[in-house]
Amino acid sequence: MYNRSMIKCDFLIVGGGIAGLSAAIEASKHGKIIVLTKGKIGEGSTGKAQGGIAAAIDQIQDSTEFHFEDTIAAGAGLCDEKAVKILVTEGVERVKELIEMGARFDRAETEAGSGYALALEGAHKRRRILHAGDATGEEIQKTLGAKVVRGKLAEIYQHTIGLDLIIEAGHCLGIKTLDLKTNKIKTFLAKATIITTGGFGQVYQYTTNPEIITGDGVAMAYRAGAAVTDMEFVQFHPTSLVHSEELKKLIALPRFLISEAVRGEGAVLLNSKGERFMQKYDTQGELAPRDIVARAIYNETKTGKHNHVYLSLAGIGADKIKKRFPVIYKTCLEKGLDITKDKIPVAPAAHYCMGGIKTDTNGKTNILGLFAAGECASLGVHGANRLASNSLLDGLVFGKRAAIAATNAPSSVPSTQHPAPTPPSHPTPQTQHLKLVIKSTMWNQVGIIRSKDSLTDALKKIMAVESCLNQSPLNKEEIELRNLTLLAKLIIQAAFDREESRGAHFRLDFPKTDDKNWGRHLVYQAG
Ligand code: FAD
Ligand code: SIN
Repeated sequence: MYNRSMIKCDFLIVGGGIAGLSAAIEASKHGKIIVLTKGKIGEGSTGKAQGGIAAAIDQIQDSTEFHFEDTIAAGAGLCDEKAVKILVTEGVERVKELIEMGARFDRAETEAGSGYALALEGAHKRRRILHAGDATGEEIQKTLGAKVVRGKLAEIYQHTIGLDLIIEAGHCLGIKTLDLKTNKIKTFLAKATIITTGGFGQVYQYTTNPEIITGDGVAMAYRAGAAVTDMEFVQFHPTSLVHSEELKKLIALPRFLISEAVRGEGAVLLNSKGERFMQKYDTQGELAPRDIVARAIYNETKTGKHNHVYLSLAGIGADKIKKRFPVIYKTCLEKGLDITKDKIPVAPAAHYCMGGIKTDTNGKTNILGLFAAGECASLGVHGANRLASNSLLDGLVFGKRAAIAATNAPSSVPSTQHPAPTPPSHPTPQTQHLKLVIKSTMWNQVGIIRSKDSLTDALKKIMAVESCLNQSPLNKEEIELRNLTLLAKLIIQAAFDREESRGAHFRLDFPKTDDKNWGRHLVYQAG
């Protein structure tokens, strides 16, 4: 009954980062798996992760209780305690499994303690970050990818962009996609679909996120009727590299990250006068939570003529810099900066989305047959502000849990009748321009600092973009534009509704945290 553009499997996983591959490994024990990726596998955020993966594997200096406490404190009152408990306890087991699969993390000079060289990052009270130099994500992506590919655990369709979910009688039956190589529509049908498409950093002009991270999964799920939550909480990483080339581009390329681990090893922030400033803002100085450091940099730069501050690694020492941060050293050198001597110009950039598709701790959404995990999902594990290096752990732990739940769920019955696919269209010339309008509006008016006025004005601009959209987008640019527009609206709505400041969400007109009225999550659903 199925033609070649209609493909069936038991479990469909949309996304091939840490969450998607973790889900695939688990679900492959129970049936035929298909993994879809928008670009080449490995082009999402996972492969770019630098600092590392947090886990209390050192049971002498550290404990899962300490990790729990730090996660809760960073989350600014909005963490779900049950989810955090699962993260920190199952996280240790998942990291050990990852090591057994072959992931190689840096070892300590002495074999005492865990035997691993554990790093420190902002708002962690203990050293607990396992890392592979400053290319931790690449090591993890490679390890999980090899397990799936060598073990023939899943069929992988790369360059296949999910367009919309297929929902019938309240069940998710699969997904309609566009094959970006052949420009053909393909439909995938499954008993259960797990969305693991990553975050939506690309809604902002300046972001550390790869270009393909445009929040497609969150937008598809919302359009299909799934609830989304915590959309106002977007984390801005304080230290992305500011380079002169970006000014020459119409749409800024992703900014290269300068890992927080660099500050963990002793790098300090300097303003344009060459003065350290973080102690003015927080007693933890450079290692204060990310939202505090990002706002401090915003404050230091808002009146001056520079849009950046500087990171000085002078206290670390050249040999250690080259050994511990080889990727950062090499990348900066290619851009003309010798970081053993030169200060690095840095500024905040959108980095991580705490919000997304609302799930429980088993990845279940409010739609039968639809699950979500990783950065696209939101289950309250990060609250209003994620603790550094907790998101790789999130993908590992909750990717597996979503697969377990999906394989235990009653199966949907794939329909055999589907409307003939509409032929793909060509991009319109104004798509790039509209994307830029969204990204610059979100950066300038819905960024580190927000207010009722800025949000109201931003919404008007986004609605104007919306009125120009092709409502049946069938090329990559238009698909992404439609999704970015929807996400921008959802972020603005939630940021407007939350009349307080908390974690990553700062309202100039409501600068205080208001637990009585706002110690809760905001949830949105289409209609
Ligand atoms: P991703 O790894 O982003 O994968 C998303 C997948 O979905 C990709 O395979 C993509 O092709 C696919 N996809 C997207 N849209 C579609 C579509 N429409 N159709 C089909 N497929 C689609 N976290 C840490 O814990 N520690 C760190 O050190 C760290 N460093 C970071 C450094 C950088 C520069 C960045 C950007 C993030 C960092 N993070 C870090 C955050 C962390 O990397 C991410 O939160 C995490 O990797 C997300 O994993 P994921 O599996 O949810 O999504
Ligand atoms: C970093 O290396 O600074 C990023 C860590 C993270 O986002 O968790």
